[in-house]
Amino acid sequence: MIQFLLNRELRTEHALDPNVTVLNYLREHLGKSGTKEGCASGDCGACTVVVGELDGERVRYRTLNSCLTFVSSLHGKQLITVEDLKHQGQLHSVQQAMVDCHGSQCGFCTPGFVMSLFALQKNSSGFDKADTMEALAGNLCRCTGYRPIIDAAEQACCRKQPDQFDAAEAQTVAQLKAIAPQDTAELNSGDKRCLLPLTVADLADIYAANPEARLLAGGTDLALEVTQFHRELPVMIYVGHIEAMKRVDVTAESIEIGAATALSDCYETLAQDYPDFGELLHRFASLQIRNQGTLGGNIGNASPIGDAPPLLIALGAQIVLRKGSESRTLPIEDYFLDYKVTARQEAEFIEKIIVPRHQASQAFRAYKVSKRLDDDISAVCAAFNLVVEDGVVQSARIAFGGMAAIPKRAAACEAALQGSAWYPGVIERACAALAEDFTPLSDFRASKEYRLLTAQNLLRKFFLELQAPEVETRVTAYV
Ligand SMILES: Cc1cc2nc3c(=O)[nH]c(=O)nc-3n(C[C@H](O)[C@H](O)[C@H](O)COP(=O)(O)OP(=O)(O)OC[C@H]3O[C@@H](n4cnc5c(N)ncnc54)[C@H](O)[C@@H]3O)c2cc1C
Ligand code: FES
Ligand code: FES
Repeated sequence: MIQFLLNRELRTEHALDPNVTVLNYLREHLGKSGTKEGCASGDCGACTVVVGELDGERVRYRTLNSCLTFVSSLHGKQLITVEDLKHQGQLHSVQQAMVDCHGSQCGFCTPGFVMSLFALQKNSSGFDKADTMEALAGNLCRCTGYRPIIDAAEQACCRKQPDQFDAAEAQTVAQLKAIAPQDTAELNSGDKRCLLPLTVADLADIYAANPEARLLAGGTDLALEVTQFHRELPVMIYVGHIEAMKRVDVTAESIEIGAATALSDCYETLAQDYPDFGELLHRFASLQIRNQGTLGGNIGNASPIGDAPPLLIALGAQIVLRKGSESRTLPIEDYFLDYKVTARQEAEFIEKIIVPRHQASQAFRAYKVSKRLDDDISAVCAAFNLVVEDGVVQSARIAFGGMAAIPKRAAACEAALQGSAWYPGVIERACAALAEDFTPLSDFRASKEYRLLTAQNLLRKFFLELQAPEVETRVTAYV
């Protein structure tokens, strides 16, 4: 049984197929068709809803894509949809702003934009263009054009007034506390089940007892199996309620990130030590996906074009794997064995990721090359981690995504640099070595020739940036 608030109304689901997404639940089970389906793959934002979660004595509101969210993950939370914004016959100020600024034409995308604007308004204390662009990057509109929608964001943020959600916040907090999960919950229908443990030990036990289960974190990858490939997932274990796996702990030596930490929650800490990691997370999918998707899921799906793994490999990060009561620590580069094949054993899961702290001598840069700036997956992702002292390369860790069947270190390239003088001739030798390291594939994102040339040019770019660090060329790169 799971419980959540649909706006302020308590909903209890005893028997529901755990493969049902929030989008289908709203539209097909509740007949609430305000939330739209555009792509069912997290790309268009038409299905955007807002989820409220307890944050001390406040409610924290975040957007997510309801097409990629299973209903089970709403347990203990508040779901707000576009139907909930109008109050006492009056449009909400974000809806009114869309009307006043002519932010809607055919209207198909509008509920999703409205919900993104609602969350933006809730989380801002005034208008900020960059925050607005970030909040809207996961919402596509094919007819209005974005200028009127950005105007609407400005109006909504500048004329923000307390609304019905603010007025009811104390009651909502009390309601959320009353339904806060106390023990492992289960949502099932027939033989389809989703188990929702609260502790790492319970997760380990439940997984050991159900080794065939699929781990569900943000679901931004896993849910595609249901929505795009029309498969059914008979048993899932949701890891998003395990507080110990959502912690970010910083010590003098390392940053320890629980595997179930949302990408949005990793940003601040990683960006402080490694600004390029922050920049990459900024360009990772959309805000909706980052609010949902986790660092553990990005490693767990073992995609050759996953964005975090090359950076983590170059940084020498480790992962802690747990199976039953046993834990082992593995350099993350040893986790990826072959295309979608990992070192993870049956019933083993990633508990946390350990990233070494930045050292003063260390130069770290990362570059994501994709067809669009926002909401796009890499054609090539490169991460360079070097120590150069007195003009000599003391150490080099270099990793790429999109260049092989797995995210992979560039061993020959590193060897060409290690111990060498740091000058253009060596860079050219290291570029040639990249052709030994990788035989990339051609696909719809990029050809193999393009990928190799891009990887080589990113190394040249890295060299130039280190020569003239004031030249900020690294932030964006496009195919
Ligand atoms: C529109 C869109 C855009 C995207 N853009 C990007 C992008 O720019 N860059 C990028 O890298 N990815 C991108 N992705 C892919 C995806 O969002 C990320 O890989 C995300 O980090 C997955 O995390 P999750 O928590 O949602 O994983 P889930 O979907 O919950 O899980 C993914 C896989 O990991 C496994 N898993 C989850 N947690 C664990 C654990 N603790 N231990 C072991 N296995 C585990 C699951 O069983 C599953 O097999 C995008 C996806 C979409 C839909
Ligand atoms: S329907 Fe397009 S993102 Fe969900
Ligand atoms: S108004 Fe038609 S898609 Fe945005």
